[in-house]
Amino acid sequence: MTQNRLIIFDTTLRDGEQCPGASMTSRQKLEVAKQLARLGVDVIEAGFPVISQGDFESVREIATQVKGPKICGLARCLPKDIEAAASALEAAGEAARIHVFLATSQIHRKYKLAKDEEEIMRIAVEGVRLAKRYIKDVEFSAEDASRTEPEFLARIIQKVIEAGATTVNIPDTVGYAVPEEFASLIRYLFDHVQNIDKAVVSVHCHNDLGLAVSNSLAAIKAGARQVEGTINGIGERAGNAALEEIIMALHTRADAFGKIETGIQLKEILRTSRLVSRMSGLAVQRNKAVVGENAFAHAAGIHQDGILKKRETYEIIDPKIIGWEQSELPLTKHSGRAALENRLKLLGFELEKEEIDNIFSQFKEIGDKKKFVYDDDLISLVEGQMTRV
Ligand code: KIV
Ligand code: ZN
Repeated sequence: MTQNRLIIFDTTLRDGEQCPGASMTSRQKLEVAKQLARLGVDVIEAGFPVISQGDFESVREIATQVKGPKICGLARCLPKDIEAAASALEAAGEAARIHVFLATSQIHRKYKLAKDEEEIMRIAVEGVRLAKRYIKDVEFSAEDASRTEPEFLARIIQKVIEAGATTVNIPDTVGYAVPEEFASLIRYLFDHVQNIDKAVVSVHCHNDLGLAVSNSLAAIKAGARQVEGTINGIGERAGNAALEEIIMALHTRADAFGKIETGIQLKEILRTSRLVSRMSGLAVQRNKAVVGENAFAHAAGIHQDGILKKRETYEIIDPKIIGWEQSELPLTKHSGRAALENRLKLLGFELEKEEIDNIFSQFKEIGDKKKFVYDDDLISLVEGQMTRV
């Protein structure tokens, strides 16, 4: 892989599914996994096999049926977790990845785990060594890394790489980081972990302050070469970094991020978003970047006029490249004459200037009374003109 290749690690089926109300059946998860493979993600985290028989079966099914991406299962640094994950992933063969994690921050060490630094270090190293006995590709996550003392984080990362971790993941578990600080942490690790070049540095950001995508992008700029996230940003609490947003930011602003390459098929983005929404039962907010219903809908008259003259006046992404049919110009009270005329033409009407003037003023009256002016409203207005004596 080149220096600029970014590994896309999708955890929609694990961290995304942890979101309250998002749980899916094994059949639904399999369908999503197949679509993620078409989308071209590099790694699918299919579940947490030890947590339930259903999750175990689902990881096993995905490992058996989905080809292309690596299939990953999550485990704590505990033998029963690691054994369950290894067993669920067996059918993936060389394409299997095991993801072990352990919290490293002081607050988690003290209150959740009641363990000191040395004990945490020992458990992490043993977890990685045990996972390595089953599967070559081992990822280690230092849970709550962004709130961990950087010196301790660097020491533990160095040790897990020595133990065989091939990817080291730096999660912002509680969405506490801010971009420049998170990027500094990544740079700090590059400067202080002697064997860092032996592993891929990954980031995994949560969205509690709405910064998950920004933090992920800052970390990529600082050298991270795997990014973890979910489709539509679903996940614990306020969710995970939305992969479609990261991908489109990198694509659209290559000038700002450098020429980062991914294996993503952009044209599959919208389809994947819609499938995840249907299967998880979680609606996508209308104004969500890239995949929300309004992402390419222009309402203001000035904007609609601009779009009709040249799309790029108000659009930085061509919606067609990610699977949308076209930009939309919904007719509302904000619309101007240009959008009205355009719609009337699309409906097949060729009208005189005076007729359009009349329709335009009636159109504004309707717009003041309801949210949208529909084609049926326009057709009635045109018929009104044609039957005038
Ligand atoms: O947010 C987190 O820290 C996690 C880890 C298990 C990677 O989801
Ligand atoms: Zn997470």
